[in-house]
Amino acid sequence: MDNIYQHIAMVGAGGKMGMRISANLEGSSSRIYYCENAPAAQEKMREAGREVSDIEQVIEQCDLVILAVPDIVLGKVSEQLVPRMKAGATVLTLDPAAAYANLLHQRDEIHYAVAHPCHPSVFLERRSDEEWADAFGGSAATQSVAAAFEQGSDAERASLETVICQMYGPVDKVHWMTVTQLAYLEPTLVETVACMVGTFMKEALDETVERTGVAREAAEAMLYGHIQIALAVAFRSTNPFSDACMIAIDYGRENILKDDWKKIFEQEELDKVIARMLKIDQVRRDPQIS
Ligand SMILES: NC(=O)c1ccc[n+]([C@@H]2O[C@H](COP(=O)([O-])OP(=O)(O)OC[C@H]3O[C@@H](n4cnc5c(N)ncnc54)[C@H](O)[C@@H]3O)[C@@H](O)[C@H]2O)c1
Repeated sequence: MDNIYQHIAMVGAGGKMGMRISANLEGSSSRIYYCENAPAAQEKMREAGREVSDIEQVIEQCDLVILAVPDIVLGKVSEQLVPRMKAGATVLTLDPAAAYANLLHQRDEIHYAVAHPCHPSVFLERRSDEEWADAFGGSAATQSVAAAFEQGSDAERASLETVICQMYGPVDKVHWMTVTQLAYLEPTLVETVACMVGTFMKEALDETVERTGVAREAAEAMLYGHIQIALAVAFRSTNPFSDACMIAIDYGRENILKDDWKKIFEQEELDKVIARMLKIDQVRRDPQIS
C-alpha cells in the first residue's frame, strides 16, 4: 500500500526527539520539512545538514504534522497549527499525556495519533557493539512502539505505521491501542513504576556505600548482576528465587511498598499524575477518547 503521507512537517526538529527522529526520516521517500523556533536548536539542525523550514509556509501542504515539542506547550502549539492544516491530515504527538488530557486543539477534519517508543527490551538479544550502545533505541537496537490512532482509516493506519517504523527504527512491531491504554503504559507502568524503581535502586546503592563503607565498585557489581537475575527470574522464570530470597522479598514488600499501591491504576490517579506532568489544575477528559 502506498504511503499517503507524502508531505510531513517535523515541528520541534531541533529538540531531543526531533533530532533523533529527523535523522531517521532522512531516508524517507516523503518530503520532510524540519521546523524549529529556537535559534540554538536551529543551529544544531544546520550542523546536522538539515534545512530549517518555516512551519507557517509549509503547514497547509502537509499530510502529517509531527509535534515533537514539550508536552506543556502542545495545547498552545496545536491551537496555532491545527486550524491551518489541510482537511484529512493527521497530527502525531509522541506522548499520550496531552491527548489523554484533551489539551490538543480539536477539529473534526483532522485525525489525531500518538506514537511512543518502547525502547529496546532488557531481554533483547544484542549481537553488535552498536546494539549494546543503543540503550534508547532509534539507531541500532530493535524496539517496539506503542501507538494510538482511534479515528484513522485502515489506509491511514498502514501509512502511519510505515512512518512510525522509520521514525523509531529499527522497529519490530507497532502495538495499536487506545490513548487511555497508552497513558496507563506511560506514565503509570513505565514511569511511575519502572523509572521510579530505577531511581530507587540507585538511591539504595548510594545508601549502601555510605552506610557500610563497602567499595562502590563491589556494591555496583553485586547490584547490577542481581538486577539482571531478578528480572530474569521474575519475568522469564529462568529459575525460582531461593526460599531465603522469598523471605527477604516479603520483608522488602512489607517495609517499602504501601498496601494500597495498586490505586495508581485507578483513573482518578492517572488524571492526577498527568495533570501534574502537564502542570495543569486538572485533566478534562474528552468523552470520545476511550
Ligand atoms: N526526551 C525523551 O526521552 C522522550 C521520549 C519519548 C517521547 N518524548 C516526547 O517527545 C516530545 C518532545 O520532547 P523532547 O524531550 O524532545 O523535548 P525538547 O525540549 O528536547 O525539544 C522540544 C523542541 O521543540 C522546540 N519548540 C518548542 N515550541 C516550538 C514551536 N512552537 N515551534 C517549533 N519548535 C518548537 C524547542 O525549541 C525544542 O527544540 C514530548 O511530547 C515528549 O513527551 C520524549
